[in-house]
Amino acid sequence: PYSYYTEKYRPQLHFSPARNWINDPNGLVYHKGKYHMFYQYKPYGDKWGNVSWGHAVSKDLVHWEQLRVALTPDELGPIFSGSIVVDRHNTSGLFKESSEGLVAIYTSAGEMQQQSLAYSTDEGITWTKYKGNPVIPNPGIKDFRDPKVMWYEKEYKWIMALAAGDHIQFYSSKNLTAWKYMSRFGENEGSHGGVWEVPELIELPVDNDPNNTKWLLKVDINPGSVAGGSGGQYFIGAFDGMRFINENPPNEIRWVDYGKDFYAAQTWFNTGSRKVWIGWMNNWQYADVTPTNPWRGAMSLPRELALKTFRGEGVKLIQMPVKELKGIRKNQYQWKNEKVMPGKNILSSINGKTVEIAAEFELGSASEFGFKVRKSAAEETVIGYDTERHILFVDRTYSGEFIFSPAFAGRYEAILNPIRDRIKLHIFVDWSSVEVFGNAGEIVFTDLIFPNPSSNRIELYSENGYVKLSSLIVNELES
Ligand code: FRU
Repeated sequence: PYSYYTEKYRPQLHFSPARNWINDPNGLVYHKGKYHMFYQYKPYGDKWGNVSWGHAVSKDLVHWEQLRVALTPDELGPIFSGSIVVDRHNTSGLFKESSEGLVAIYTSAGEMQQQSLAYSTDEGITWTKYKGNPVIPNPGIKDFRDPKVMWYEKEYKWIMALAAGDHIQFYSSKNLTAWKYMSRFGENEGSHGGVWEVPELIELPVDNDPNNTKWLLKVDINPGSVAGGSGGQYFIGAFDGMRFINENPPNEIRWVDYGKDFYAAQTWFNTGSRKVWIGWMNNWQYADVTPTNPWRGAMSLPRELALKTFRGEGVKLIQMPVKELKGIRKNQYQWKNEKVMPGKNILSSINGKTVEIAAEFELGSASEFGFKVRKSAAEETVIGYDTERHILFVDRTYSGEFIFSPAFAGRYEAILNPIRDRIKLHIFVDWSSVEVFGNAGEIVFTDLIFPNPSSNRIELYSENGYVKLSSLIVNELES
């Protein structure tokens, strides 16, 4: 029953629209057994402009059905990014007595950026714009957008995180229509190489202990991210219902992803204690010239979030691909306790066009080892580990098409510390992307690639010595 895409580069495991431009995921909400994903969308063109909210639904976060466009520009302007909540107790009074509905909170981006509402009683198919829009008028700040709203059970109120140029503002509301400014965070914290966008405040247990939670504040910046162009940073700390307090030194920067193509992520509302987010798999440096047609843009894989304590580094964000992705495994190949030597490729018979790789290595004499994916004589994307420097990297210099932008080809790095001389890699390869999760998911890379469709080999390599493969599972995937 699921569609299978044939266009050159069209992602098989990732959401992309049938045609035209997308950017940020918006209004992610789990409602009546379905995951809804709205997104920045240009219904009639493949470059950004005059954006609407497109709409897709999924039962498993993996297979998506694209629905009709949900929200279109009006007299207040195009519909920029925002969020959706289930107004379960009809706090807004927008629904019939004691019934629930969906409320979208988004940025109206006309001459000024302001926050507006729309509501739906038919599972997000049709929407009514709220008569009192905007609900937060522009206070004289040029960049004033991307409201992400959550329910704060402790005080029975809604809380909004909003990007305001070089800082985040927090607002609260009892009814979603009247909002009160509470506090601001960030002009002197984290990275400020570019404008701050798409914030979200998320409560997560530390080390799986539900009685010990901390708050993660994710803030995207464009440009100035770790791999160049747009990307995400996060802060860890406390939230008292009013204020976010960073527990780390203000100048410390924590990156969400070390690749170039993970931006504007947000979590699904209404998934209980499970927190799952998805990002726009792209970078503003070249998003409008990527060589795809008739669609342009795709989402990352959905990832489950956690917090984990690391000795000497404090609490860090952990991201792991959602378990639902196990449902698309087809052929499985396994190895255990192999010695990987230069010049021998144990993966030579596998079709690596759409694969999942899960490997655990014990460091040996090799100076470098890893996987070369989407490989042919002329092309390869290298996911490698530098044993001496403890650096995990993705090198897409020779990954395929790159001339559409000088900012595309490149190699991206992050420190990944071995644990008892071992490292783990979990990799997803699709027709135009790689996603790499290092160790427990504390280091992640998301990178677009545009290899020739016939570049479908994978190689396990080592250089200048051996590495011990404790275990390796390769799954060919089929959506
Ligand atoms: C982030 C962003 C948001 C804005 C939207 C416009 O990628 O710039 O800040 O709401 O895209 O499409």
